[in-house]
Amino acid sequence: MIRGADLARFWELLQRRLGWTATDQDGAQTATVLSARAAAHGLSEREYLNRLAEPGWDGETAELAEALSITETYFFRHSDQFRILRDQALPARIAARAGQRVLRLISVGCSSGEEAYSLAIEACRARPGSDWILAVTGVDANRRMLAKARTATYAGWSLRETPDDMRRRWFRPAGDEFRVADEAVAIVQFLEQNLADEAPHLWQPGRYDVIFCRNLLMYLTPAVADRLIRHLTDSLAEGGYLFLGHTDSLGSDPDDLEVFHDGGTVYYRRAQQPRRESRPAPAPPPRQNETGAGDDYERALGLLRDDRFADALDVMRAPSGVRELLMRGVLLAQTGRVEEARDAAHRLMDIGGPHPDAHHLLGVCHELDCAEQAAGQYRLAAYLDPAFAMPRLRLGLLFRRRGDDRGAVAHLQPALELLVREDEERIVLFGGGFGRLALTTLCRAELEACGVRR
Ligand SMILES: C[S@@+](CC[C@H](N)C(=O)[O-])C[C@H]1O[C@@H](n2cnc3c(N)ncnc32)[C@H](O)[C@@H]1O
Repeated sequence: MIRGADLARFWELLQRRLGWTATDQDGAQTATVLSARAAAHGLSEREYLNRLAEPGWDGETAELAEALSITETYFFRHSDQFRILRDQALPARIAARAGQRVLRLISVGCSSGEEAYSLAIEACRARPGSDWILAVTGVDANRRMLAKARTATYAGWSLRETPDDMRRRWFRPAGDEFRVADEAVAIVQFLEQNLADEAPHLWQPGRYDVIFCRNLLMYLTPAVADRLIRHLTDSLAEGGYLFLGHTDSLGSDPDDLEVFHDGGTVYYRRAQQPRRESRPAPAPPPRQNETGAGDDYERALGLLRDDRFADALDVMRAPSGVRELLMRGVLLAQTGRVEEARDAAHRLMDIGGPHPDAHHLLGVCHELDCAEQAAGQYRLAAYLDPAFAMPRLRLGLLFRRRGDDRGAVAHLQPALELLVREDEERIVLFGGGFGRLALTTLCRAELEACGVRR
């Protein structure tokens, strides 16, 4: 028989490890889990609690998350929020990301994955062209739910709110169950993460276009929930959208977020910051002996990795060498200053003669106005440096957009091989915020769409 004091201590430890607030959750279930976990380690309940109070033992935290978390979810849960996503959030974010053609969405507390796949389906439906990179991340602490999510296969009950037309288009029968369409599965990745722990890799500033964090905050203590909300807000792009569960509220004036009401639902948008150039009293520039051109370049590269284009541009305002000028050109293109980006590319060629990266940059600029010119520039870049994967990839995507699958395959196949060895810096400069793995996945998916089985 478990004593009330042991149960209370167990709850205190769950709070410390998983950020959970003691709820009216079934006390008998909690007691059963305590006994079972203690027995699994050959310990008495008291010994188990003592061990759990010590630092480390993350594997056991994961076991507890698995045994005790509440995981109820289904596809297109709260349809009003998906309507706002479809009609407002995605069109606005697609317009904002037109220069980069990248959209990132995240389901925080994704459970068995229905929410992440619902986001993926909506993102695929909204995708303006095949060269857009879409990425959905699902995060949860519950390993068993994540394993289920990775199967992408669900019982009909999970689709109880899925309209018939969506069911037909985005699911295929798999025995008695339904499997999510490959196109949507391909853009989703699941990560195990205890959200009560620090996770800087998840919360890079300005990273996400859309965040869903629904039916999780209510299980967390106020301190853990507040910290998570701060991370969510900071990692939203300016103008990015945040959707919470119907019982979660951030009050009427949350920091850095605008609040919107639509029918029965509330949602949030990250406020636009005033442009850095117009901010008063910028920090004085570092003295020459404090930081050199190399440090500035590394700093700008780091900021570019985090999609902080305006900040990186600030660092690269007076490029001192060829690679700094290339970086500035890339950042200008990323922030929509295409004419200036072209000037930077031409200056690069004036300084150093034929320059594959400068031609690639010109290609990126021309994709906005003339696909033929863009293709010509990419060809030149690939000719000047046969090991350069990025122009091959872009050429493949251009051909795909044009409906020329044979032409696309001729570029995508070498791109796929070259990506393995592509220079890391070029991936940061030209990968639109995506790493080698995501670009390789894109390349493979496009080849498959062209009918090439690998
Ligand atoms: C009720 S489900 C919500 C599913 C989905 N977001 C929805 O609204 O349909 C809550 C999820 O939060 C997860 N969760 C609870 N505490 C967590 C923590 N500390 N870290 C990560 N995930 C956690 C649980 O494992 C569970 O899968």
